[in-house]
Amino acid sequence: MPACTFYTTAIDYTNAPPHIGHAYEKVLTDVLARFERLRRRPVYYLTGVDQHGQKVQQSAEKEGLAPLEFAERCTAKFLDLWKTLDVQFDGWAATTHPLHKQTVQRILQRLFDAGQLYKQRHNGFYSVRQEQFLTDKERNEAGEFGPEWGQVVELEEENWYFRLSDHRDWLLGFIDSHPHFIVPAFRRTELRNAVEKLSGDLCISRPKARLSWGIELPFDSGFVTYVWFDALINYISFAGYLADPDSGLPEFRSLWPARAQVIGKDILIPAHGIYWSIMLHALGFPDDEIPTLLVHGWWNISGAKMSKSLGNTVDPAALAERYGVTALRYYLMADISTGRDADFSEERLRMRFNDELANNVGNLLNRTLNMAHRYRQGVLRRTGCQDADLVSLAGTEAPAAVAEYTKAMEQFEVDAALEAAVRLARTCNQLIEASAPWKLAKDPTLAERLDAVLYHLAESIRIIAVLLVPVLPEAARGILAQLNCPTDPALSDAGWGVLPDGHSLGAPVPLFPRLEAPPAPAD
Ligand code: ME8
Ligand code: MG
Repeated sequence: MPACTFYTTAIDYTNAPPHIGHAYEKVLTDVLARFERLRRRPVYYLTGVDQHGQKVQQSAEKEGLAPLEFAERCTAKFLDLWKTLDVQFDGWAATTHPLHKQTVQRILQRLFDAGQLYKQRHNGFYSVRQEQFLTDKERNEAGEFGPEWGQVVELEEENWYFRLSDHRDWLLGFIDSHPHFIVPAFRRTELRNAVEKLSGDLCISRPKARLSWGIELPFDSGFVTYVWFDALINYISFAGYLADPDSGLPEFRSLWPARAQVIGKDILIPAHGIYWSIMLHALGFPDDEIPTLLVHGWWNISGAKMSKSLGNTVDPAALAERYGVTALRYYLMADISTGRDADFSEERLRMRFNDELANNVGNLLNRTLNMAHRYRQGVLRRTGCQDADLVSLAGTEAPAAVAEYTKAMEQFEVDAALEAAVRLARTCNQLIEASAPWKLAKDPTLAERLDAVLYHLAESIRIIAVLLVPVLPEAARGILAQLNCPTDPALSDAGWGVLPDGHSLGAPVPLFPRLEAPPAPAD
């Protein structure tokens, strides 16, 4: 069985530092991969950086650096961030790697040999700022190319093209016969409409005179590949596709097809939904080896797009520093529903953490441990108590939460999965209020009821911790450690009744201290 493989995009480089959208995508994929690890399935998580292109070349020039040096400096910022955010990946795809270049060239050669590439002269309007040829689609209502394109010149240039439109009908049929190709489903309709309108082929090169920071075409040394034939191929090059057996790369068959490629909504059409699927098809990948695209939404700021020019980007490293990684990961997974957009708000970050982790899960853990120590020296007793509220918690509520969580995670709905875990904690806090262990402790005839309540609370919080492992690996381990339970659980440990009679609980240590708003900046 191939490993359950997840891919995220290779981040691209401009001078812009990593933002909250980047952090979201990597954490989301990390959570999906950790969920599979929790299920003890083989997992491989590949992510990386898209290091070539005009913008890198220009930014490097501005700073007086060689492009590679510039790219490596950007890479370090991202790698630091993934470490800070506990993003645990298995493969790192940096597109300047010689083995990636080799695979890109092998792929281009294959497509060339198969007659899928051709060279053509093109005369047209060209935006110097955006480094692209413009078509009539780019004209505004007045029939002009607007100021957003900067200086527009007429230019004649030869380039290499990929026969994209030859595969249009295949792609339409593929989309229709593969309902799970695109998740969520509403994006599939968008993609289908775009494919209907597809005409023309894909320009895949830039003359070296214009762009030197790229991978040279193996059959025409005056050109480098342009953007997509370099960046998209990272998904298979670093998985070992067309690699030499001694390359040190993974064995391709062990990783492909991927369980999901995780991308943002802006790069579904045309990049991944059209170019990438057609590239794979043209290379001979059978339909059932074209991976699912999990298309996530965007984090916005007060309904507006985050952008460097608006100065409203949010720095995930600063947030992690201010509130902790646990709070940041929780917020990023709980406050957006996969596929939809969400508005970023620090206030909501604090609120959700305080309501759901500090006052709910954390409180449950603390109260349970404190009461167990106060009334029972921290030792749990499994009794034969058959009180209806406890029977219902053990037999209905807890298993239902695990089932709901598992189903949601399988559908990539991390927010719904978290909701199931948090709801179980709420039920337990209500049980504490309703059963009032402090009263039970005063009446020796209710000793068995008290033991049973404490056992049920401890067992529930243990199950909640198992469910939290993918999103909050550190905090979940902290809970399990306080319960004196193994800290690397499997999902199968989320069944009821694992804690044995006589189990000793550890001491309570606050894990989710309430978050306060930072002080207003002094004038
Ligand atoms: O597109 N919210 O790189 P990139 C959520 N190098 N996600 C966001 C976001 C936001 N506000 N802004 C961006 C590239 N993203 C190419 C990919 S693939 C082989 C090459 C997501 O750095 C975006 O949708 O511009 C994309 O999935 C990822 O961040 C990297 O974007
Ligand atoms: Mg982009």
